[in-house]
Amino acid sequence: MTELPPKPPSRPDRVSLWRYLRLFKADILSAQPARLYRAWMAEFRTPFFRSFLLNQPDLVKTVLKERPDDFPKSERIGEGLRPLLGQSVFLTNGAVWKRQRRIIDPAFEGGRLRDTFPAMWAAGEAAVARLDRQVEGAGGAPIEVEEVTSHAAADVIFRTLFSIPIEHEVAAEVFSRFRAYQRAQPILNLAAFVPLPRWVPRFYPRGTRANARIIRDLIRRLTAERMAEIGAGTAPDDLATKIMTTLDPVTGEGFDTEEMVDQVAIFFLAGHETSASALAWTLYLMAMFPDWQERLAEEAEGLEPEFAAVSRLRLSRDVFREALRLYPPVPMMVREASCPERFRDRDVPKGSQLVLSPWHLHRHERLWDNPDGFDPTRWQTENGKQCQREAYIPFSAGPRVCTGAGFAMVEGPLILSMLLRRFRVERVAGREPVPVAHLTVRAQDGIWLKISRRD
Ligand code: HEM
Repeated sequence: MTELPPKPPSRPDRVSLWRYLRLFKADILSAQPARLYRAWMAEFRTPFFRSFLLNQPDLVKTVLKERPDDFPKSERIGEGLRPLLGQSVFLTNGAVWKRQRRIIDPAFEGGRLRDTFPAMWAAGEAAVARLDRQVEGAGGAPIEVEEVTSHAAADVIFRTLFSIPIEHEVAAEVFSRFRAYQRAQPILNLAAFVPLPRWVPRFYPRGTRANARIIRDLIRRLTAERMAEIGAGTAPDDLATKIMTTLDPVTGEGFDTEEMVDQVAIFFLAGHETSASALAWTLYLMAMFPDWQERLAEEAEGLEPEFAAVSRLRLSRDVFREALRLYPPVPMMVREASCPERFRDRDVPKGSQLVLSPWHLHRHERLWDNPDGFDPTRWQTENGKQCQREAYIPFSAGPRVCTGAGFAMVEGPLILSMLLRRFRVERVAGREPVPVAHLTVRAQDGIWLKISRRD
């Protein structure tokens, strides 16, 4: 039998509330019981809160696609991120969120993706050159690839957004400060599940607020400079310029500097953490399944620096899609029921927290063939096609779908192919990564691979 990619251990079916909270705090993935891979819906009822995990395709569709306005983003989710993200599109709801999307979405339309391609390609070449030096320096010792892919994905974002490479002084500092911030913040903290009244003061880990302020000051510098360049007619034609010059067709207003700082912060955070996580897991899967690695390297041989070439990376895209299924960078999302509901013959009171879990849905035993196996050919099968439509939400779905989904599906396969064309990756004995949920799905002790040049 072929080996299965790493999956975190599940907890026993019944544990005390305190044990659950402790497990949850350590890692939300291993804090869940195995039955969630088979359940259509599960309720977490405790003395303090009530939440439901929705794991049935039509319920997920109701919440995300059919009636999204009735299920706003839970206010609590953003608590840990608010000092950094302010009123960013990731956290807002209702009219504010709708207006923000009207201004942001045009920057990510298909045609614009073509325009960002040269910057992505340049970031890919820089990543190859950086890794080349690292491989040389390592002298055959294992290399931690989450670090490699974080660097590459951050570079992609700075180049496409602000036309500056990661080596740029401000970009480099934003990058390193984000890392410190991210380490201290799980994407779903306990506060998401334990409702605290508004008047309870929020405590953040030490340094969180100070770090957030510094990051925002740095981003404000980039944004203010860009405002000036737009005024002078000298601004480069990149994502920042596009967003900052787009006016909301309904109100006729654009973003002011502070609101733009909020958006840049989320583009950077949502855009690099997620892609970095996905790329690192894909590289691990390639080390685990060397025949696929060889096929991708072969496919990448003819890769040219032109946008159309990306559409020819068919295998790379299937592999990346499969990696997003097994290791969805955003493992869970939370919404709130704004009115009483009845789901699967159960009352869902107003105010309940509804958890949508790409992690569980993507490995649902009653939906997917070979749910825990790595099989990039599944996307051509009937089961794979149906599940892709109904049970595959790495970018969420509906009007609140990830703005960067199209961007990420170009970036991921491209960077993957550029890396595999140049390098071969192999597993390191005794260093199997264990997935845990930090801000995104990461490996407990990093992902270590032996990397060598192909030539
Ligand atoms: C593999 C890469 C990526 C994955 C898996 C991913 C996943 C997601 C998911 C699941 C959400 C919805 C979260 C929720 O509703 O709670 C989201 C939202 C978002 N993502 Fe991504 N993302 C990726 C890359 C990007 C990139 C490259 C960008 C920008 C350049 C980006 C920008 C955003 C923004 C702005 C939102 C908020 C949208 C809204 O709430 O209206 N993402 N992403």
